[in-house]
Amino acid sequence: MAFERVGVVGLGTMGAGIAEVFARAGLRVIGVEADAEALARGRGHVERSTGRAVDRGKLNERERAEILGRITLTTSRDDLSDADLVVEAIPEILDYKVALFKDLDRICKPETVLATNTSSLSVTAVATATGRPGRVVGMHFFNPAPVMRLVEVVGTVVTAPDVVSGIADLSARLGKTCVAVGDRAGFVVNRLLLPYLNHAAVLLDLGVAGRDDIDAAMALGAGLPMGPFALLDLIGLDTAYEVMCVLFDETRDRRHAPSPLLRELVTAGLLGRKTGRGFHGEETAHRERDRAEFITFGVEGDDAGPIVEQLLRAGFKTSDEPDVVLRLADRPVIEHAVRLPTPSAMVGVHLVGDRVAEVASTALTSPAAVAAARDLMKVIGRTPVPCKDRAGFVVDALLYPYLNDAVRMHDSGYASIADIDAAMRLGCGYPAGPFEMLESIGLRRVRDGLRALYAEYREPSFAPAPLLDHLVTAGLSAFPRP
Ligand SMILES: NC(=O)c1ccc[n+]([C@@H]2O[C@H](COP(=O)([O-])OP(=O)(O)OC[C@H]3O[C@@H](n4cnc5c(N)ncnc54)[C@H](O)[C@@H]3O)[C@@H](O)[C@H]2O)c1
Repeated sequence: MAFERVGVVGLGTMGAGIAEVFARAGLRVIGVEADAEALARGRGHVERSTGRAVDRGKLNERERAEILGRITLTTSRDDLSDADLVVEAIPEILDYKVALFKDLDRICKPETVLATNTSSLSVTAVATATGRPGRVVGMHFFNPAPVMRLVEVVGTVVTAPDVVSGIADLSARLGKTCVAVGDRAGFVVNRLLLPYLNHAAVLLDLGVAGRDDIDAAMALGAGLPMGPFALLDLIGLDTAYEVMCVLFDETRDRRHAPSPLLRELVTAGLLGRKTGRGFHGEETAHRERDRAEFITFGVEGDDAGPIVEQLLRAGFKTSDEPDVVLRLADRPVIEHAVRLPTPSAMVGVHLVGDRVAEVASTALTSPAAVAAARDLMKVIGRTPVPCKDRAGFVVDALLYPYLNDAVRMHDSGYASIADIDAAMRLGCGYPAGPFEMLESIGLRRVRDGLRALYAEYREPSFAPAPLLDHLVTAGLSAFPRP
């Protein structure tokens, strides 16, 4: 399947980048916008983006001129009659897309492949609006398109197999890694990413931990490129809300219902970076907190030795009746607290990676004990993440259901382990895919953590995926790969 002339409809955030990607790979591009003003904006996007590439030494002026020379801009869809492929990147509204595809079906030659860049709408619904459903696919690029290396190619039940393979080959020619999947809401990346982001908003709403603490926990503790609220602000809260609605419509999974906090912020017009304020943007005044002048400490739990040593070396003292008892745990500590003569002194401490310590206060913990625990964690070089004494605290509560979702996705036959890992690494910039993370944390640990989450929240989808459970029961430490 030869693709030499490619149309791109809608030259906004995504379309302009997609046009640039095609032109960089040597294809001729016809960019279509709604009106002259939008066309000028689209031209500006491409000129600025390629200009930045020159500044960074990625392109020279001649290459830039060649790329721009390959892109023709127009406001007339009729100019697409000769295109081999048309990629649509207009707003995420099904009625708009259906109307556009009907029109493209009329204008383009019968063999032209029509592709949608939709993030969450049904590709099948768009395809069946045309007289050529076999030649319609999803071609889902990531933002910014010239930089992100992933393309999800979405075939429907009626897409011709050679169209999917043709678009997959084209993606490789564009320098992208392609993951070919079926038409399910959210495909791979959004289906796994958005529920995790939504869950973070739910935990914030429940008061399990604060905004900056959750962001720090996931960035520094779980090693993700940024925390969930920073990422939601980047994606746009309205977009995230819409995708959650589409996921919920398809799955009816309560976890896919947009968090009420997300809805409130969207209704208030606080959409994230595009409006200057979302979850971030207005700094809340820092509360004055109790500071312990002199701290005596105790440490309980497995592996207490190294922390005791570090704190003694830093000049802190142990005592029979310490100001704070640090209970090392990855589960709630209230049952240990109630056995102490002074339960108010106990704080749960969960060490996450090398840089974070979650500091969990129970219903009985005193503010002074929390303050002391926070200070002591800083002394041993860790960022304290204050949180409530809940199953999974912050990191495990957010990470494990995401990993579980990936296992269920694979087990359902939707995508392979290699494709899911590649999609999350390349589409989100994660340091590792979910299966790589699962295997490095340990299958048993994740399975047991999920059981604890399920026992506490009674959320059906927190129950360990049967495949994960079976692998642990069989004593395996890795997922079988073909
Ligand atoms: N923004 C992202 O991060 C992202 C990532 C992946 C996929 N997507 C998907 O890409 C699509 C576009 O999103 P975006 O963020 O680029 O939107 P955008 O609002 O930045 O751009 C949409 C563009 O389409 C133009 N347009 C509207 N109606 C048109 C028409 N009838 N004909 C021609 N042009 C028209 C608008 O003028 C605008 O320039 C959506 O389906 C979205 O879900 C977005």
